[in-house]
Amino acid sequence: MSSLISDTEALTKKITAIKHKRLSAWVEELAQLCKPDRVQWCDGSQAEYQAMLQLMVLTGSAIWLANDKRPNSILVRSTPGDVARVEDRTFICSRTQDEAGPTNNWAEPAKMKEKLRGLFAGAMTGRTMYVIPYSMGPIGSPIANIGVELSDSPYVVANMHIMARVGTRVLEVLGSDGDFVRGLHSVGAPLGANQEDSAWPNNAQAKYICHFPETREVWSFGSGYGGNALLGKKCHALRIASVQARDEGWMAEHMLILKMTSPDGKVKYITGAFPSACGKTNLSMMIPSIPGWKVETIGDDIAWMKFGIDGRLYAINPENGFFGVAPGTSMKSNPNAMLTATKDSIFTNCAMTLDEDVWWEQMTAEKPAELIDWLRRPWTPSSGRKAAHPNARFTVPASQCPCIAPEWEDPKGVPIDAILFGGRRAGVVPLVTESFSWQHGTFLGAIVTSETTAAITGKVGELRRDPMAMLAFCGYNMGDYYAHFLKMGSRPGAKLPKIFYVNWFRTDNNGKFLWPGYSENSRVLKWIFERCDEKAHAVDTPIGRLPEPADLDTKGLEIPAADIAKLLSVDVEGWHAELPSIQEHFARFGSHLPEELNREVRELETRLWKAKK
Ligand code: GTP
Ligand code: SPV
Ligand code: MN
Repeated sequence: MSSLISDTEALTKKITAIKHKRLSAWVEELAQLCKPDRVQWCDGSQAEYQAMLQLMVLTGSAIWLANDKRPNSILVRSTPGDVARVEDRTFICSRTQDEAGPTNNWAEPAKMKEKLRGLFAGAMTGRTMYVIPYSMGPIGSPIANIGVELSDSPYVVANMHIMARVGTRVLEVLGSDGDFVRGLHSVGAPLGANQEDSAWPNNAQAKYICHFPETREVWSFGSGYGGNALLGKKCHALRIASVQARDEGWMAEHMLILKMTSPDGKVKYITGAFPSACGKTNLSMMIPSIPGWKVETIGDDIAWMKFGIDGRLYAINPENGFFGVAPGTSMKSNPNAMLTATKDSIFTNCAMTLDEDVWWEQMTAEKPAELIDWLRRPWTPSSGRKAAHPNARFTVPASQCPCIAPEWEDPKGVPIDAILFGGRRAGVVPLVTESFSWQHGTFLGAIVTSETTAAITGKVGELRRDPMAMLAFCGYNMGDYYAHFLKMGSRPGAKLPKIFYVNWFRTDNNGKFLWPGYSENSRVLKWIFERCDEKAHAVDTPIGRLPEPADLDTKGLEIPAADIAKLLSVDVEGWHAELPSIQEHFARFGSHLPEELNREVRELETRLWKAKK
């Protein structure tokens, strides 16, 4: 106890040196609540990053990978109860339930705060509270937004170093009175005096990822993993930022941003919203299979978009790194991601080779003969289980990506030409559909259906509506979000991007993907690119504008013509059968549903009837 008091005194001295009184008072208040042994203000230095890695290795959370294979990289293994985002434990604590809407878990803010105060009381005992000032977006950019995360996890500190811009330079921008999003995070595992820490501290009984949109606060308890714990990412840059964006007239979206250059040097910028583990990282870094075309990366997960004075929509990537899905990533599927992760990377829940490198499913054509699986058990190909967890991830600095676009940190962003919506859908949805208008595109985004993936705890492969890939990330009523989307499109003088609906995941009757995907998606991007200039041909169908097989560049693509025809066919019966479920989906939003979307349903129905006749 006495050491706590003297440390608290030292802490008080340290934070009185902080110019920002609101910030220091807030840190002090929460340190009193959480009772950490120490408080450490993160400066964002390389030395600090290295110290965090060392600490994780010392406590058994992490292991160094062989320095001649992955210089300065670690492998971290969590525990089966803490491997992904916990959507059922994620709450939007707005004033009223109506403001959170039917798709979010809601809790009354004062009651939830009270419960959280109970959980956080003494939760950091035996640990250090790290104060992590971070900037989402380039430091000092007019579009950037500052947050401060208090966390008792060195894993969080190290990951935040990569995923955001952190440290003293952020405090300098914040000055003595700047506004910031307040984040509090604890793994929820206080340590007794002589208690040994576990390799992956977390709280098996209680996990709460809570957002208070009105006060721009996040309180996250009990999990140390990914989006639950790295509060700058989903909690701040999507759930809180979507509310800020609604209030201030911009957009915070779960979208990749890519730059595409044609053989004659024309450039287009494309964003794409696909649900978790549905291909954003892969598309943003793809190497086109069609000669002469180039794709470069601006971002792989989140886009903040604002209108410029020229009426165009400009996007920035608020992040500084990639927290990418490892399984499925290989030199064949995504060489740029592989090359980004060759050094200075953090790997989580991957398997380990006997020579201390990482491995995951599909990384190599042949499986290694022996591995240590993500649960630290010996593994061989005959073990009959996966060696890496399906949501195993790599955390890598964006600057290390070989195809990062030179303008990726441009504070004014890049002007967007096309927005893609998509999901994992075995049937019904064609390879690509161009919307008739912004309103129709909003409708297509609003009805996206996708199979759930390992990025979320719970059942994998369940079909659900995931509007604009924002189901889990919209910090307010999704009906109002649709209205905001429509409003952005009706801005006077707006030069809007075209909206497309894509689906790389259509399967044949045996469940095999009809479309090879990955670098071959460039063929679809090319059609989209040329549609933006009204160059490529398309046909009007009841569901939107589609390429005919001849409109798609399939040179050198070895797939049966019948498959292409199927991928580009409109399943009129299938779409017709969807109507009741679309209506049901929209009905959930009651009076919050914009009338324009009901009109789109009626018009779709009419067009489908006509096609059936
Ligand atoms: P989050 O980081 O969770 O938001 O995921 P993401 O949308 O960035 O997904 P990512 O690109 O990491 O891909 C997830 C999984 O889908 C990986 O296993 C990929 O191999 C697979 N995938 C990506 N693109 C394609 C594609 O075009 N076709 C097929 N069949 N699979 C793909
Ligand atoms: C997602 O689930 O969409 C992710 C991973 O990008 S996490 O950061 O865990 O949210
Ligand atoms: Mn994501």
